[in-house]
Amino acid sequence: MSKLQQTLSIIKPDAIERNLSGEIKSIFDKNNLKVKESKKIHITKDEAAEFYKVHQSKPFYNDLCTYLSSGPIEVMILEGENAVSENRRLMGATDPKNAEENTIRKLYGISIDKNSVHGSDSMENAAKEIDFFFKN
Ligand code: CMP
Repeated sequence: MSKLQQTLSIIKPDAIERNLSGEIKSIFDKNNLKVKESKKIHITKDEAAEFYKVHQSKPFYNDLCTYLSSGPIEVMILEGENAVSENRRLMGATDPKNAEENTIRKLYGISIDKNSVHGSDSMENAAKEIDFFFKN
């Protein structure tokens, strides 16, 4: 059953640096994910650590937080039918080398760290992540 949902998307520093924001947003647009809100920000390492708290026990956590705070990012609320899973389908596998053809990470990702985009992995996390960046 299809459901109208919202999810959080982040265009990461590697993609902003290469001016890929327009191309990535056009992929969302062509696939019926509407950008409801969007802002370009540069977060601190502490904010990145808070955002990625679920990964705090992972060996890559410190590098991940350093990376997300290394340059500007664009955070977006995407809305559409089954937006959480649809965004994940469009992004492709976490590691670009395992991602399907024509997915965002296959097209633009450089490595598992510089994988160009983040997307919420569940409706519960989407609500939390949207709140993290867009609550007033
Ligand atoms: P993202 O979807 O933003 O969620 C956490 C990020 O950690 C992930 O994308 C990757 O960029 C990064 N990462 C680095 N190493 C790993 C790993 N071994 N497994 C999963 N994610 C990793």
